[in-house]
Amino acid sequence: MTKPHIIDLPKICDPRGNLSFIESEGHVPFEVKRCYWIYDVPGGMFRGGHAFINQDEFIVAMSGSFDVVLNDGTSEQRFHMARSYYGLYVPRMTWRAIDNFSTNSVALVLSSTLYDPSDYIEDFNDFLRQKNG
Ligand code: TYD
Repeated sequence: MTKPHIIDLPKICDPRGNLSFIESEGHVPFEVKRCYWIYDVPGGMFRGGHAFINQDEFIVAMSGSFDVVLNDGTSEQRFHMARSYYGLYVPRMTWRAIDNFSTNSVALVLSSTLYDPSDYIEDFNDFLRQKNG
């Protein structure tokens, strides 16, 4: 597990329109088990506000823009996601929220695990205890 970081994706530029792609365990440092996406977010809303015990994620702004706010238990970092040719790797045990969604934005999330409600840490103080304790 490394720190959160931006990963540039291949970008095949073409006068007909550009193309990017992601290969499991290639462009993202884990095997992709699940994809989900967040869309139709009303103005001013935020998503997330939790951490995962075992799940690593890779987040891409497929359309529009938003901010991913990460806290590793010590410091907070804000990443502005605005293009579909890069994504943000978020390792497990990172508190994360997504806010500042633009109109018609779509956040694609690739996950290293299947959906498991017991993998969520929903309380920030619980997260700090587990992270630092
Ligand atoms: P949640 O992960 O809390 O969304 P966010 O982090 O964007 O705020 O999930 C919201 C709801 O969707 C919750 O009831 C669980 C459900 N859900 C699934 O059923 N499968 C999934 O893969 C995901 C990500 C969520």
